[in-house]
Amino acid sequence: MAINLGKMNAYPFQISSMAEYNEAYQKAKENPEAFWADVAAHFQWIKPWESVVESDFASARFAWFNGGQLNITINALDRHAHTKPDALALVWEANDPKEASRRFNYAELLQHVERTAGMLRRLGVKKGDTVGIYLPMVPELVFSVLACARIGAIHSVVFGGFSAQALADRLNDASCKLVVTADEAFRGSKTIPLKDIVDQALLLCPSVERVLVFPRTGAEVPMAKGRDLNWVEAWSNKGNETLGYPETMEAEDPLFSLYTSGSTGKPKGVVHTTAGYMVWTTYTFVNAFQYQPGDVYFCTADIGWITGHSYIVYGPLLAGATTLMFEGLPNWPDSNRWWELIEKHGVNIFYTAPTALRSLMAENKQGPEAFALNSLKTLGSVGEPINSEAWHWFKDAVGKGRCALTDTWWQTETGGIMIAALAGISPEFPTYAGLPMPGIVPVLMDSEGNLLAAAEAEGNLCLEKPWPGMLRTVFGDHERLRQTYFSAYPGYYFTGDGCLRSKEGMHRITGRVDDVLNVSGHRLGTAELENALNFHPSVSESAVVGFPHPIKGQGICAYVVADLAGQTRFETKRELLDLVSKIIGPIARPDLLVFVPGLPKTRSGKIMRRILRKIAEEQSEALGDVSTLLDPEVVKAIQKAFVQAKEDR
Ligand code: PRX
Repeated sequence: MAINLGKMNAYPFQISSMAEYNEAYQKAKENPEAFWADVAAHFQWIKPWESVVESDFASARFAWFNGGQLNITINALDRHAHTKPDALALVWEANDPKEASRRFNYAELLQHVERTAGMLRRLGVKKGDTVGIYLPMVPELVFSVLACARIGAIHSVVFGGFSAQALADRLNDASCKLVVTADEAFRGSKTIPLKDIVDQALLLCPSVERVLVFPRTGAEVPMAKGRDLNWVEAWSNKGNETLGYPETMEAEDPLFSLYTSGSTGKPKGVVHTTAGYMVWTTYTFVNAFQYQPGDVYFCTADIGWITGHSYIVYGPLLAGATTLMFEGLPNWPDSNRWWELIEKHGVNIFYTAPTALRSLMAENKQGPEAFALNSLKTLGSVGEPINSEAWHWFKDAVGKGRCALTDTWWQTETGGIMIAALAGISPEFPTYAGLPMPGIVPVLMDSEGNLLAAAEAEGNLCLEKPWPGMLRTVFGDHERLRQTYFSAYPGYYFTGDGCLRSKEGMHRITGRVDDVLNVSGHRLGTAELENALNFHPSVSESAVVGFPHPIKGQGICAYVVADLAGQTRFETKRELLDLVSKIIGPIARPDLLVFVPGLPKTRSGKIMRRILRKIAEEQSEALGDVSTLLDPEVVKAIQKAFVQAKEDR
């Protein structure tokens, strides 16, 4: 296959009108092989693929571009370093506004990634090994991720807000051999002791042989002899440079694993593979945001989550874009930080989450008024349903009424954006994600598995066709993948989300229909939270539900059956909150903790969560029929305890 190194930058697959969207949508649906072969032809392959797509929903086995060989970093780095070495690739802005920005053009970024790749190779990391990454939002995080991809190691990035226990669970599940971390992370006016957390986690992780420690704050941290290495020393070794060459990867070789919560059991390592993910993140980046060469793009996510993987690192760099990464918080030193950054760097495309918008609105609704924000042309939202008020504030106060707004629905599992307006092209409607991307065929089902054929409908959102960026397996447990996503509705991928479809075919995501919570855009499983609470010696049982929260989208309400054993409610409550922070992380601390004498159970012993949800939503009048409960009286006691818990706060 002829490769044209320069062709990519013109984005031949970029859609620029509704007519082109309709045409692309039809073609991708009717002839996905031809459609995706055309898109894939604009990347650089070491060896062309033999088949575009192979899919078997029954066994949950999917392959894209099978037989093809490539290295994703050649596409994200070498190609651009060759055609436009001076173009800015990565711009980094520190937590502290007084600290200088760091800038890397494509030639420099390639060189840094090569050196990092060489360093990892020298430390014994090989193709197929798994590397844990627990770093703050510093450029070294991007170097590490891409260095893994360059040498064929599977990266497993763990968000810095997870606890030692949660980190250990993730490192063990993926049998990580090496961990990259930092001494500490800056977070607003605070620091987070990352190395300390890693040290605690590693007491439980026999597979980890080496730890690379990037000195971010300069704190003195203990270094274990023979295991821990200072990044700066290891990185400066001259031998790295010659060892940074790209490994030849098969299209379906795993690229990374990223843990996410489901409705049952422990978090699962969602595995994405090389070629399909590359094609999907690039295609969706260029189309949803309508990226134009030269645009400065700023996504506020953390690389510890999928949004950061796909739309800070891979999508933008594959497209040859300028991606801005920010280490700090939107409200430190004050709530104008993002607006200052947008002006400082001339940001054109700004991608963020409703929770952050709501909290900035609450803190300083007039904040953006003092900023012209002239460079902005596209706004994006992701991670949770965006309520009308936040949508309008984003559009009018931040976008000054002149920017396109794309609300992008997708998941860790989908690899990239699935339902979203193509900025400025497809119709925008507040609170609706809108139309599917080409290649995505959404359908709605009722709970009995009937396909809802009417144009206007509400049901469970499923996807009918495979798409290049879909997850391929769950780390070490393929059966769990089949069970979780492909068994509820045979022949379809089940998203876990509820969805409303308007008669015009626009989609509005209404939230999870399973026991997954979305708290400040962070995904948490109720089972995970309950397991953590149940660790407390006084707790015999617990049940966790979500409730609407004005800033976080959803808050966490935990009902706990506990024998206080001489302690006050307040003491046990503090212990329980600390326990959840310790086992999962501070992001999982319940907002409300309700001590109840029992849980509402049916005669067969099933907890009726519907009742607990209604109480947490303060809709006790809508409890419905409670007569099938083993002990209907318990409901009144729970209601009383709920009132008490609210007073206790
Ligand atoms: O419920 C949906 C919600 O976030 C879930 C996926 O979470 P996660 O895997 O952490 O990925 C988040 C970033 C892609 C979905 O099942 N969600 C995500 N985007 C939206 C959304 N809900 C409504 N509107 C969105 N734009």
